[in-house]
Amino acid sequence: MKNKILSLLKNSDEFISGQKLSEEFGMSRAAIWKYINALKEEGYNIESVSRKGYRLISSPDLLKYEEIKPFLNTEVIARKIVHFDTIGSTNTEAKILAEKGEPEGTVLLSEEQTSGRGRLGRSWSSPKYTAISMSIILRPDISPIHVAKVTQVGAAAVALACNEMGIDAYIKWPNDIILNNRKVCGILTEMSAELNKINYVVMGIGINVNIEAEDFPDEIKPIATSFKGEYNKKFSRQELCGRILNHFEKLYNSFCEDGNASDALEVCREKSIVLGREINIIQNNTATRVKALDIDSEGELIVEYADGKANKVISGEVSIRGINGYI
Ligand code: BTN
Repeated sequence: MKNKILSLLKNSDEFISGQKLSEEFGMSRAAIWKYINALKEEGYNIESVSRKGYRLISSPDLLKYEEIKPFLNTEVIARKIVHFDTIGSTNTEAKILAEKGEPEGTVLLSEEQTSGRGRLGRSWSSPKYTAISMSIILRPDISPIHVAKVTQVGAAAVALACNEMGIDAYIKWPNDIILNNRKVCGILTEMSAELNKINYVVMGIGINVNIEAEDFPDEIKPIATSFKGEYNKKFSRQELCGRILNHFEKLYNSFCEDGNASDALEVCREKSIVLGREINIIQNNTATRVKALDIDSEGELIVEYADGKANKVISGEVSIRGINGYI
């Protein structure tokens, strides 16, 4: 109901009277007033003038469907957004919904996560109102062997959206987004599948948008950054979400046609921060120095070892680091 009232206010530049709202929604004016107050508490600036009614002046940067909708041009992805004020992990919640049959394209967004999860069993910090914590439920009709590439589809979508918003972001293979040599975004893709059939995929994207540099936990301060930290201004999380989801749908549709993520991988190559560089591959606590040569058609990183031999690196089991720092 609150969202329906909000939607009506959003679609009008004029005052809407309490009487009109109460007739429209079949409830008392006192009940309407309660919903208006709840919206005000969420940060909506609503002007109330006696005998005129209510008028929306401004909206907070919340990640609700009504707020992101103006930025969306998708057909399937994010046509339903499940919004949380707080949650443990959007990926964990998305898996529960997917198990219950939630269709492809549903997106979960939370204003904060209290037990956000990262790759390789790490934790992920998502402070309230300043990060994006998003999970997309997908049901691609492709073989499970192709699924690792969906993460690169996500990384390509994030990089393109950032660039459109004037953010000079790059991709650190396979799927970290990097700004000024530090990480601003990570992607965690999880899957439920049988041998030849995917039940569902949950792709979780975490972005440090408006987090203040000093608010990062001490242990990640040297390797993490945010858009706010680098540009010293705030960015619209709503616009960024919309742009990511628009790019994601296009690249994902092309990926699903044949399991071949060539469009996304082209973006990953163009925006790669590792190709052509000396890097360390870290596996089982051992670092091996290599040169990153290319990303092949399967999304694997081709590297050259000290003896001149080239080989593939499979994502999922390794971390990569620059020779003198994070990258
Ligand atoms: C990484 O380690 O780089 C991946 C981080 C992924 C974080 C996102 S935030 C939304 C979703 N929910 C989670 O618990 N994790 C992912």
